[in-house]
Amino acid sequence: MSNVLITGASSGIGLELAKLFAADGNNLVLVARREELLNKIAGELSSEFGVEVDVIAKDLTLEKSSQDIFDQLKNKEIDIVVNNAGFGAVGPFYELDYDRQADMVKLNITALTSLSRLFITRMVERNSGGILNVGSLAGFQPGPYATIYYATKAFVLSFTEGLKEELKNTNIKITCLAPGPTNTEFGEVSGLDRSFLFKFGTMGAKEVAMQGYNGFLKGETVVIPGFSNKLLPLLVRLSPRFLVSRITAKLNRSANND
Ligand SMILES: NC(=O)c1ccc[n+]([C@@H]2O[C@H](COP(=O)([O-])OP(=O)(O)OC[C@H]3O[C@@H](n4cnc5c(N)ncnc54)[C@H](OP(=O)(O)O)[C@@H]3O)[C@@H](O)[C@H]2O)c1
Repeated sequence: MSNVLITGASSGIGLELAKLFAADGNNLVLVARREELLNKIAGELSSEFGVEVDVIAKDLTLEKSSQDIFDQLKNKEIDIVVNNAGFGAVGPFYELDYDRQADMVKLNITALTSLSRLFITRMVERNSGGILNVGSLAGFQPGPYATIYYATKAFVLSFTEGLKEELKNTNIKITCLAPGPTNTEFGEVSGLDRSFLFKFGTMGAKEVAMQGYNGFLKGETVVIPGFSNKLLPLLVRLSPRFLVSRITAKLNRSANND
């Protein structure tokens, strides 16, 4: 039994991961902004699985939010951190609201990095535990017209792979879950649900979470759910970078009907 901190646990992939960790008897700390929803989820998970579920309602784009969470949990040993909270936005970099894009960097990169740094010290001391970062297929290539989102996910992939190598001689599990289009609130929040990418087909959050969870338990470094999604990084590696950019631009621009 472990204590598992999960960000972005109020919906989508994070919620499904929370169910999986709870079903295996782990205690949870759920983080997101919607407190009422988190409390409802916590009640349901604790009564269904008989585990302890705590809630910390927090906007992770705020400075010191990670430190606040860490301080609030100083009497609890957190064994596993799931950095799942994230959002995207589609549109030209020079037209999208700057503050929104800056918040994306703060959530998708800064909060993920600071939570990892704060909680990893004890993991290293105990030589156990793990970090499951939710990246994206978007992390394998540049993504014009959702440029900042793709760049944040490239960070998540690179950060996770680097950390994995640093900790290769320990028992600490380090995994990047890199989903393709998945049917969650993400599509509407980002606007990417109107793109060809999403119209080609989406996976369910439950299946994505299950594959990520199993891969994490097995100690896999990168987990890409779905057969055709697995082919994409390979295709990207074999294609000229400018062509990859151009095709991705077309897919993303289709969200704006350009
Ligand atoms: N869906 C996809 O197609 C897809 C594909 C690849 C990767 N991903 C990645 O998967 C992860 C989970 O997304 P999802 O698809 O499950 O979307 P989702 O249903 O929109 O979930 C996002 C979660 O993040 C939380 N969140 C958003 N802003 C936050 C903030 N400022 N502070 C704290 N929590 C915040 C949301 O909760 P509150 O609103 O309550 O704060 C929610 O629980 C993200 O990192 C996303 O980039 C998604």
